[in-house]
Amino acid sequence: MIIGSKIILRDKKLADAPDDYTWRTDPELAHLDAAPLLTATFQEYLSDYTSQLRYLPPTRHQFAIDTLDGKHIGNCVYYGVNKTKGEAELGIMIGNHDCWDKGYGADAVTTLVSHIFHRTNLKRIYLKTLDSNSRAQKCFQKCGFTPYGHLVKDRFSFVLMEIHRKQREKPANKNLRQPPK
Ligand SMILES: CC(C)(COP(=O)(O)OP(=O)(O)OC[C@H]1O[C@@H](n2cnc3c(N)ncnc32)[C@H](O)[C@@H]1OP(=O)(O)O)[C@@H](O)C(=O)NCCC(=O)NCCS
Repeated sequence: MIIGSKIILRDKKLADAPDDYTWRTDPELAHLDAAPLLTATFQEYLSDYTSQLRYLPPTRHQFAIDTLDGKHIGNCVYYGVNKTKGEAELGIMIGNHDCWDKGYGADAVTTLVSHIFHRTNLKRIYLKTLDSNSRAQKCFQKCGFTPYGHLVKDRFSFVLMEIHRKQREKPANKNLRQPPK
């Protein structure tokens, strides 16, 4: 469990499946994420979900985002971990629309980046978000990410953003508090 100012990052669990299914079948979220809308039934989804939880590749580290009072509001992940290059890609989704623009996303990203730089030797975290997704870009800028290029893929246009360990002069775990005993 990793505690930020407004959120807690915790391991994913089977009980998250109904929320995650709701978010994966939400057309607005799929649009903002440039992701295909899930068409599987919940039972089909649950079967894949169960095996993915069990057989997570070592290059992927995923977390649920809970509010401090324990409400599951989204997920974040770092994946494509490349130890040779010292980098990984970050992804985040606040699935609960009522929780947008309240600082949860920025706190989750800041907390995850601090965790990565504190607990691993990775030197660079990168991400992509749609050119049109101004909210996401603002959120990532607040966390210290800077744009470094553009990508057009499958008719979508993305801005590429990155953050380097050396940009973060302060102790990497400054934003972390210890979980209550
Ligand atoms: C993108 C996302 C992670 C951001 O998390 P969040 O909790 O909403 O973001 P924050 O509140 O930390 O920051 C959002 C900032 O964008 C601002 N903002 C909102 N809409 C905006 C717009 N249209 N243009 C510019 N800024 C905007 C907010 O005012 C806020 O800035 P402020 O703190 O200075 O007021 C979250 O909204 C989300 O998951 N959205 C749905 C899915 C999605 O966009 N996926 C793509 C992720 S790459």
